[in-house]
Amino acid sequence: MCGIIGKIGVGNVVPDLINGLKQLEYRGYDSSGIAIINNGEILRERAVGRIKELEKEINKTNPEGVVGIGHTRWATHGAPSERNAHPHLSSNGKFALVHNGIIENADEIKNQVLSQDVVFFSDTDSEAAVQLIEMNYKGDVIEAVSSACKEIKGSYAFGILCTDFPHMIFAAAKGSPLVVAEGEKGNYITSDLCAVNDEISCIYRLKDGEICSVQKGKIDFFDSEGQLLAKKSEKSELDKQDVTKGDYEHFMIKEIMQQSEAVEKTVDSFVIKNKIQFSDVCFQEDFLKKQLKNIVIVACGSAYHAGLAGKSIIEALCKIPCNVDIASEFRYSEAFISKESLAIFISQSGETADTLAALRLAKSRGAKTLSIVNVKGSAIAEESENVIYTKAGREIAVATTKAYSAQLAALYALGIFIAKKIGKMTASQEKFYVEEMKKLPEKISQTLEKTNEDVKKLAKEIYRSPDVFFIGRLSDYATAAEGSLKMKEISYINSQVYAAGELKHGTISLVNDGTPVIAVAAQKDIFTKTLSNMAEVAARGANVVVITDEKTKNRVTDGYRIISVSDTVKEFKGSLLVLPLQLLSYYTAKLRGCDIDKPKNLAKSVTVE
Ligand code: G6P
Repeated sequence: MCGIIGKIGVGNVVPDLINGLKQLEYRGYDSSGIAIINNGEILRERAVGRIKELEKEINKTNPEGVVGIGHTRWATHGAPSERNAHPHLSSNGKFALVHNGIIENADEIKNQVLSQDVVFFSDTDSEAAVQLIEMNYKGDVIEAVSSACKEIKGSYAFGILCTDFPHMIFAAAKGSPLVVAEGEKGNYITSDLCAVNDEISCIYRLKDGEICSVQKGKIDFFDSEGQLLAKKSEKSELDKQDVTKGDYEHFMIKEIMQQSEAVEKTVDSFVIKNKIQFSDVCFQEDFLKKQLKNIVIVACGSAYHAGLAGKSIIEALCKIPCNVDIASEFRYSEAFISKESLAIFISQSGETADTLAALRLAKSRGAKTLSIVNVKGSAIAEESENVIYTKAGREIAVATTKAYSAQLAALYALGIFIAKKIGKMTASQEKFYVEEMKKLPEKISQTLEKTNEDVKKLAKEIYRSPDVFFIGRLSDYATAAEGSLKMKEISYINSQVYAAGELKHGTISLVNDGTPVIAVAAQKDIFTKTLSNMAEVAARGANVVVITDEKTKNRVTDGYRIISVSDTVKEFKGSLLVLPLQLLSYYTAKLRGCDIDKPKNLAKSVTVE
């Protein structure tokens, strides 16, 4: 949430700041701004809305400078407006600051600073930081930042300019990502390396409490006390991925169509000779066999839905109780986990604040931790004892699709892996599942192709509906939940998901003539139960659509509209059933003229709680 870029180079850095911000837009897109130092003065441009609005402003004045910082914002404190856009300036104009995170004691700081006759220009928590730094400044920026950071509660990644040091950028971080990169054309600070368009020789990730000063040929690191720190560099693993839409109209549809590849790469990364082998997972055999009593899966958003699907497969294959929790709830709950628990954290970005906090809680309770993450080197991956990397590649649309599919594949593999290790699965069963898993990419392509036209027609029917309901049972519920989330996040239709049997305990009163009810029903054992629930809503006038598979579709009675996916083993069905639901949300949002890749009020990476 919120993206930061800073560059110190040889020529004018403004074009690089703008290009970097465009890459960071996925982290928030309410407003943006840049600040550069020119002739010993800070020049600032800010604008509400997307980066292209900022570009228009910049084109009017053409500011230039060899050192600068930029920011794209997802509003937390203060409405999205120009005065709340970053960078923020200190009262005397000496400091400019960009911030990602939340300063929890901003009001306290403001009161303290206000007593010094300081004028505040915005409603943001971030401005408290820049004013506090100015208040602590006696000629040494590191000292001022260190003192200010000691008073700040919450999370932050700061990029700071000071007119007394016109050839330097300062940065500090705690609980929010900040990477310092040495490039061929300059040095950078950024929330995400994707913002840096340069050949990078090495990078440094700021750890909690660390501060740094970046010059053209020199980067110095300091601990929270302001003492010089020897910090080891890392090799940059940024692979320049294709970040264009290609022939597609939106990133979302491109990423939907890339799912076969995402799953194939993910499966290939842990299938070796028809066996599951994870390179970054090292459980003691004894832990799994003798100690493991329960599993908890913790995540947010779509990753939470992947977790719900994971629960079904883990419980079915391993016969170990598995609970799934929303990270923001889990971190403040009793969280019944112990040394006998395995805690699994699922996150595309690897930096979701609540998931990270939940991981830290689980570690403090002695649970074994494992994360399923798409972004290498991210905080969640780094802090987990065991990691399974999904290989979805960079996902740009805010609404996740291919990363979700890759997470499902990782969870299937994990279920098989644990079941085999604890003796609940034979080698031939493992081989069977692995072979089925290897067929998934092909079936994903088939399903996307064969459901596409039917889904387009369905979208035309439902796109004006005020409400859509999704129902399903057990693992079909997980799929329905993901379909419902997709629908509301990008089409803004009020969409609700219910366990199919639960609808009649209240929500059925919202079903009217023609209300679309999408029923996910592909499980043999409970199919007739969901069928009864469809009949209940159909009797109240609902327009029922059944999402099922080839094998099960013949069991659908009563002339409901059917959209059927390819067949696979029951444990993997969610990977195919979710596809028409993703397409449905996409085509519905398109017909409603929504901003599909950047839905309002959302951000892809949620680094605040
Ligand atoms: C945001 C995104 C969702 C994502 C969720 C969790 O809400 O829009 O697509 O599922 O965060 O993100 P994570 O990176 O932890 O998977």
